[in-house]
Amino acid sequence: MTDSRDLDDWETIRAEGHRLVDEMVDHLAGLAEGPVWRAMPPEARARLRTTLPRHGTDLARALDDARELVVPYHSGNTHPRFFGWVQGGGLGVGVLAAILEAGLDANCGGRDHAAVAVEAEVVGWMRELFGFPEGASGVFVTGTSQANLLAVLIASRAAAGLAVRQSGLGSRGLALRGYASSAVHGCVPRAFDAAGLGEGALRRIRTDTRGRLDVAALERTIAEDRAAGLEPFFVAATVGSVDTGAVDDLEALGALAARERLWLHADAAYAAMGMLSPALAPRLRALSSVDSIAFDFHKWTQLQYEAGFLLVRDGVAHKAAFASPAAYLRREARGIAAGETWPTDLCLDLSRGFKALKVWLAFKSLGADRLGAAIDRTCALARHLAARIGAEPALELLAPVELNIVCFRVRPAQGEDGDELNRRVAITLHERGLAAPSTTTVGGALALRAAVFNHRTREKDVEALVDAVLSVGAELREAAPPRSS
Ligand SMILES: Cc1ncc(COP(=O)(O)O)c(C=O)c1O
Repeated sequence: MTDSRDLDDWETIRAEGHRLVDEMVDHLAGLAEGPVWRAMPPEARARLRTTLPRHGTDLARALDDARELVVPYHSGNTHPRFFGWVQGGGLGVGVLAAILEAGLDANCGGRDHAAVAVEAEVVGWMRELFGFPEGASGVFVTGTSQANLLAVLIASRAAAGLAVRQSGLGSRGLALRGYASSAVHGCVPRAFDAAGLGEGALRRIRTDTRGRLDVAALERTIAEDRAAGLEPFFVAATVGSVDTGAVDDLEALGALAARERLWLHADAAYAAMGMLSPALAPRLRALSSVDSIAFDFHKWTQLQYEAGFLLVRDGVAHKAAFASPAAYLRREARGIAAGETWPTDLCLDLSRGFKALKVWLAFKSLGADRLGAAIDRTCALARHLAARIGAEPALELLAPVELNIVCFRVRPAQGEDGDELNRRVAITLHERGLAAPSTTTVGGALALRAAVFNHRTREKDVEALVDAVLSVGAELREAAPPRSS
């Protein structure tokens, strides 16, 4: 006998939904009281593992499993003492947007409906924010990794000619070359790989003492490459490097790209949204003259994952790189299939969720200025953190604080393995749920990396991080004192 029950049981959905909204609000509002992170115990992992559930249980029980097995073991990015990697903290309004998004279940690949109109509206706002022309196009993607890949594809197709969409890049026999600083995020070489150019086609140029691409070295490399018969086509400026927050000199790169007729792309994954801050906007103003910008709303503007974005000055080149006619996607003058350019024409996805909704709701309800003020606060907290580190003889700063990222370490004693000590400090802080910095390598040394992104972080959280690093550092050292050389 087949089961003929409806899949929606509205009474249960309503009751459980009300409960869940209340719980999630309490959860987010009370985060600071709990640990930043806790390891998932083996019993919880074991309980999570089941065979394919052929027969469902009731929703309340399934939700209880989520409460017990998922919620307590969250990665921590929503917590005010989370300082790791580059992660936003999520917004209360984003929780409601998720309900609305799921309720509408819009497919934003295309067609004529309000969700696509909302995405177009956000594209218009971004054009305005970055001073891009009317013909500029934009599209939501999962994240900046994907946006960077699209930019490499658009630029390489513009450079090699659209015929390569049919015949393949190799058919032109061009040895295309791109350029970025040695501080470039790893997703850019991955984009070169995925685009069929090969990671080796992205030249890494050395940086100056502030971690910015050395423009004179770039110019020399381009000249050498041209002399060797290679085809320079693309420069990826890093605007807010992942390790230290370094911002490449966009003015100098813009002038060079214009002289050399190169596509200038900005990987501004988090820093682009610094345009919302009156204090940072002047440093980022030159973004208005690049060819494309990749960034995320899920980083400094705090929106829930995922909300990546690509803005392209030449909307015609953007569409030409991806649009493909198909009988089943025929455009009409009227009806649901109306609309000349659909988001699917600007990216590699056809089925697409309604990522624009949460961004639209957040900007409408909170306002761009308030989101910008939260960004300013994170920079002020990073400066406060750097000052406190500077005042602690047991700690040392490892890189200048450009924006909101602070790289530092427990100063190693003579003969002590500083990398091992600081690595263990980070792990211990995580395991005790005290604070969550990540680590990276700066100038050959392992650094504790505190990236202040979360809008819930306050001065007391930054102080707590330093206190915890000092006490855990001392404790680990006591347990395994450095050997004198
Ligand atoms: C400079 C930079 N570029 C690209 C990325 C990748 O962005 P996403 O994780 O959204 O793909 C990051 C992530 O932190 C980044 O900092």
